[in-house]
Amino acid sequence: MNKISIIGAGNVGATAAFILANKELGDIVMVDIVQDMPRGKGLDMSEASPVQQYDSQITGTNDYAEIADSNVVIVTSGLPRRPGMSREDLLQKNADIVGSVTEQIAKYAPHAIIIMVTNPLDIITYHAWKVSGFPSNRVMGQAGILDSARFRYFIAVELGVSVEDISTLVLGGYGDTMVPLPRYTSVAGIPLTELMSEETIAQLIERTRHGGGEIVELLKTGSAFYAPASAIAQMVETIIKDKKRILPCSAYLTGQYGIDDVYIGVPIKLGIGGVEEIIELQLTESELAALQKSASVYREGISFLGYRNSSRAVRK
Ligand SMILES: NC(=O)c1ccc[n+]([C@@H]2O[C@H](COP(=O)([O-])OP(=O)(O)OC[C@H]3O[C@@H](n4cnc5c(N)ncnc54)[C@H](O)[C@@H]3O)[C@@H](O)[C@H]2O)c1
Repeated sequence: MNKISIIGAGNVGATAAFILANKELGDIVMVDIVQDMPRGKGLDMSEASPVQQYDSQITGTNDYAEIADSNVVIVTSGLPRRPGMSREDLLQKNADIVGSVTEQIAKYAPHAIIIMVTNPLDIITYHAWKVSGFPSNRVMGQAGILDSARFRYFIAVELGVSVEDISTLVLGGYGDTMVPLPRYTSVAGIPLTELMSEETIAQLIERTRHGGGEIVELLKTGSAFYAPASAIAQMVETIIKDKKRILPCSAYLTGQYGIDDVYIGVPIKLGIGGVEEIIELQLTESELAALQKSASVYREGISFLGYRNSSRAVRK
């Protein structure tokens, strides 16, 4: 049986656990710093299993020893931004949390593939990779699948067609610097540009760009978790079943797209080996410039965390 561990049993972590259990992708361990809460959630999900008909074992715990020998570890532990907190404060606090969490992962699950979720995603993923000492193919971040899912959903609603027929890629950083690619978007193989005006596409891109903020405004407290958890589950399934799907994920670049030593959202081939290949698309000048701009923003965040040994984020 595969073993999947999730650090942080909050909204995203617990929802991901429930989806993964329903898909019977493996036994699941949820770890959180809050006493007893993960045990409560684990027990609740276990009690759902006879009705939902899954045999995955779900354990909630405060003890990292329970993640031993996990195939995949998902990290969702972190704080949300609070009023009065600067972006730098949040970055530092979440880097501290993820740093200590990653040390535990490296100790107890040294062969695992790590999927980072905690924000700010791409910078925190870089930090986790450094702390873990793992090869970069075994540390990646989730962002692009969620952004692409939002774009796909908006397109499906606009055209009145099934979400299943929409295929797209959203690259770049998570948040304002994402790079949606309408040129690589199709509906049952028909290019999006043949089905919608440029103006409508631009509106849907804008909504996608602010997709996270739209949910935050509606929820009042907390941020999106159903769609993020679904995106995580898709990555886990792809890895565990070695499906070798091409998915947009935050991956470590070593010169692809003229970008070096940064984690950023690009299409990858995902399989049992983690990031098995980074796919280099033929981007237009403006698409490439947008991706490289994302990289520059992340370079600043990485430097803020004290990683100064390379200033090669974007090659001139
Ligand atoms: N990458 C994405 O697509 C994406 C999408 C949504 C949310 N997020 C991010 O994921 C993170 C979690 O979001 P959420 O909505 O689940 O938040 P949440 O507050 O519901 O859950 C976070 C959990 O982390 C736990 N935690 C804090 N410090 C810990 C530690 N040291 N060890 C173990 N657990 C610890 C908390 O107790 C809490 O249960 C946030 O950083 C959020 O911004 C990312």
